[in-house]
Amino acid sequence: MLTPKRKILLTSALPYANGPIHLGHLVEYIQTDIWSRFQKMRGHDCYYVCADDAHGTPIMLRAEKLGITPEALIEQVSAEHQRDFAAFAVDFDYYYSTHSDENRELAETIYTRLRDGGHITTRNVEQAYDPEKEMFLPDRFVKGECPRCHTPDQYGDNCEACGATYSPSELINPVSAVSGATPVTRSSEHYFFCLQHFSDMLRDWIKQGHVQEEMANKLSEWLDNELREWDISRDAPYFGFEIPDAPGKYFYVWLDAPIGYMASFKKLCAKKGLDFDEFWGADAKTELYHFIGKDIVYFHALFWPAMLEGAGFRKPSGIFTHGFLTVNGEKMSKSRGTFIKASTYLNHLNPEYLRYYFAAKLGNNVQDLDLNFDDFSSRVNSDLVGKVVNIASRCAGFINKRFDGVLSTEISEPDLLAELVAAGDHIAASYENRDYNRAMREIMALADRANQYIDHKQPWVVAKEKGKDAELHQICSMGINLFRLLITYLKPVLPITTEKAEAFLNVQPINWDARTQPLSGHRINPFKPLMTRIDPKAIEAIIDAERDALGVRPEGSALRVPGKMSEAESEKKIEKKVAKKTEKPEATDTDIISFDDFAKVDLRIALIAKAEHVEGADKLLQLTLDLGEMGTRNVFAGIKSAYQPEDLEGKLTVYVANLAPRKMRFGISEGMVLAAGPGGEDLWILEPHAGAQPGMKVK
Ligand code: 2FM
Ligand code: ZN
Repeated sequence: MLTPKRKILLTSALPYANGPIHLGHLVEYIQTDIWSRFQKMRGHDCYYVCADDAHGTPIMLRAEKLGITPEALIEQVSAEHQRDFAAFAVDFDYYYSTHSDENRELAETIYTRLRDGGHITTRNVEQAYDPEKEMFLPDRFVKGECPRCHTPDQYGDNCEACGATYSPSELINPVSAVSGATPVTRSSEHYFFCLQHFSDMLRDWIKQGHVQEEMANKLSEWLDNELREWDISRDAPYFGFEIPDAPGKYFYVWLDAPIGYMASFKKLCAKKGLDFDEFWGADAKTELYHFIGKDIVYFHALFWPAMLEGAGFRKPSGIFTHGFLTVNGEKMSKSRGTFIKASTYLNHLNPEYLRYYFAAKLGNNVQDLDLNFDDFSSRVNSDLVGKVVNIASRCAGFINKRFDGVLSTEISEPDLLAELVAAGDHIAASYENRDYNRAMREIMALADRANQYIDHKQPWVVAKEKGKDAELHQICSMGINLFRLLITYLKPVLPITTEKAEAFLNVQPINWDARTQPLSGHRINPFKPLMTRIDPKAIEAIIDAERDALGVRPEGSALRVPGKMSEAESEKKIEKKVAKKTEKPEATDTDIISFDDFAKVDLRIALIAKAEHVEGADKLLQLTLDLGEMGTRNVFAGIKSAYQPEDLEGKLTVYVANLAPRKMRFGISEGMVLAAGPGGEDLWILEPHAGAQPGMKVK
């Protein structure tokens, strides 16, 4: 450990327990998880907690609509949330619910301390009331005609057509969205937290660097105006915690939501024997950071520190705010079908693609970030598959086949290795500062250096030269060591791939400091492909699934995949095809194609890195092809009648690289290998001479 051990508690905003996790949410969970994993890798005591935000009117009404209790609803949603988070490798130390005993107890403690400190006041408030349902209606549950532009069916707080803001009582012909009844105005007593008592403290606190500069400016503007009391109570019926001295009154969901951070950590303390006060006591010296979106800054940078101060707890060390996610340049929107659920994504794509892409785009600022599918595919394919994973696949085969899986004891280029080791300090500083985009740029520049080294040394050429075994051994061992450093730096972003790489490298879980010791005379395991390229079909499938779920397939939607035809275009093309077919003369044994058509076929040398049986397939073998710099491909080949998988591994063959990927029952086949023969046992794959290099074009 080069730096003293820190004690850090991290949180992400608590997702509401009434809807699925979507890619917009994941920006924050992935951002926090990367930071948490980075801190842990550096040897610090870092805890990452979260919970479902389980209270409030929408959750109560949703459960009622489903005919279940709110408790049953939040339990079900919590399981779904946790399943999605786990699949995206978001690794919480504890995931809880705000509807817990710990949270009730802490909310009561904070409230009574605020009350006893003179920071709670009460007064009557007039609000829309549903006389049929016998409940007060939050603004969003009253609908009617906009008083300004007269657009019907607008919410009680603002008009989506003209942007006017108003109170529900100003709506023309208002109705309750719950029962359809006409709301009446009714008065009831509400409880308020006197935020204004904390103005001076907040003004100082904002200046002390606990928030990003752009947020500090925004908050100072708010603080220039007088702060108002905050309404923290809601009347029954309400799903939440009853206020201790006020029967029939409940804490507003936003009062106990951030307290849920404490409650989740308290549960972790009980589980792990940690000291709660060391992290939350007024004089705590530990670090506490909240990762949030820019829409909830007011709650976290004003209400929350004031509540903590008033109740005798410590305040956060930092509030880390990020922007919103846009998709192909537009705001995510359900009606446009750009709202991609985590579960939909997971049905089609590797979660680490998204982790890497977000990392490559996230900086320490509040700017929105865009998921552009073109950019997404090309970055993942060229950076992760083409540059990083490729280094291991280029070197591992020689080490395993020619040197019994053992790396050389000599480091052939100590300067290059030292350069990559030293770069770890900048990369760590970028992670620490949450400039992940910068860290990714630095890592990819190192990957370029590593690939240049291999290209320059040409191990595939050295391998054929007599008496050059020691040289080949050193080049490939150097390559494996370079790969190990790259994976070390990517570990916070790619935990799943790193685990596979650790198994391949035959090493203990990698930490940041171990990188200074190269692997020498060390036995590695056989290489298994770590990551494949993004299949454009998978992106289409995600888009289609979301559109199908919504029942909309809008023309020209933001989700149009580049290179994919719109439906109208595709229909036209099908019509043309049908017309063409009917014009075509009877097919003979051999259809004639033009030379130009033939010249379009991109044939490449491929190394069969792996061959496997496919369960349930009579004719197919699954091949993992190594194409050198082009990365790896998965191909299902109908050659089972002629070959055993073990006969194929390590062989070179010819691969059709520009064939559109095909979805098969067993997975996606990315192209074809060429074989000839009458069939059955008499089928031979094309085998180029041994000097051919994977990825090389076949002329
Ligand atoms: O905006 C939201 O989705 C809230 N559920 C976030 C709560 S964060 C914390 F304060 F609990
Ligand atoms: Zn309007």
